[in-house]
Amino acid sequence: MARVSLDKISVEYPIYNAGAFSLRNNLVAIGTGGRISAEARHIKSVMALEDVTLELNDGDRLGLVGHNGSGKSTLLRTIAGIYQPVRGSVEVEGRVSTVFGLGAGLQPELSGYDNIIRMSMMLGATRAQAEAAIPDIEDFSELGNFLAMPVRTYSAGMSMRLNFAVATASYPEILLVDEIFGAGDAEFQVKAQKRMNEFVEKASIFILASHSEQLIKKFTNNTVQLRHGRIM
Ligand SMILES: Nc1ncnc2c1ncn2[C@@H]1O[C@H](COP(=O)(O)OP(=O)(O)O)[C@@H](O)[C@H]1O
Ligand SMILES: [Mg+2]
Repeated sequence: MARVSLDKISVEYPIYNAGAFSLRNNLVAIGTGGRISAEARHIKSVMALEDVTLELNDGDRLGLVGHNGSGKSTLLRTIAGIYQPVRGSVEVEGRVSTVFGLGAGLQPELSGYDNIIRMSMMLGATRAQAEAAIPDIEDFSELGNFLAMPVRTYSAGMSMRLNFAVATASYPEILLVDEIFGAGDAEFQVKAQKRMNEFVEKASIFILASHSEQLIKKFTNNTVQLRHGRIM
C-alpha cells in the first residue's frame, strides 16, 4: 500500500547573496512566483510552498495545476525527497519514480549507457536490474548509437527520450511527472503518452504537474490548484 502525506509543509529557497538584490517596488502585483520575503527591502528567501496539506492513497491520480512559479515542481521535488520542508512533515510510503523534464538527473559528460545505469540505480534498481533494463530502454528511446555518446551531444528532445525511457523502465508505486510533454517530437509524444497510460494504471499513486488541460483530464481524477505556493 502506497501513501503520500504532507502535513502543513512550507518550503523556502534561501537567497544567499541577498544583499545584491533590492526590491524595486514592493507593491507591484505579480501573477507568477512564490512569495518573496524581504527585510529592509532586501530579498531573503522565496517561499515556494506555504502550509500545504495533502493526503494521497492507493488509486489517487492527482493533477497539479497553477501558473509558472506557483510551486508545482517544488511540491513534486519535496515528495521525492530532494527538498526538505522548513516546517511541517512529509511521509511517503512506497517506491517513488520521477520524470522531471528536460534532462533532469542526466550527467552531460557520461554516455547514454552510463546514464542509464546511474539513473536506474538512483531510482532504486540494483546494478543487475539496471543492466537488464537496457534492451527495453534502447528500444523505447530509439537513440541507437547515440547511447554510446556523451549526453551533452543530445538535443532536448533526445534527452527527454532517454529520461522518460529510464524512468519508466520499471513500475514504481508512486509516479511523479513534471511537465514533460513539451519536449520531444510528435511521434515521441504519442509513444510517451501510450507508455504513461500503462504506468498510470499500474502505479498506486500518480501525480502530474502540467499546463495541459487535456493531459490532466486524461490521466488524473482529482486536481489541486496552487497559487503563490498555497493550495487554492
Ligand atoms: N532554485 C531556486 N532558487 C530560488 N527560488 C526558486 C528556485 N526554484 C524555484 N524557485 C522559486 O520557487 C517558486 C516556485 O517555483 P516552482 O516550484 O518551480 O514553480 P512551478 O513548477 O509551479 O512553475 C517560484 O517563485 C520560483 O521563483
Ligand atoms: Mg515547474
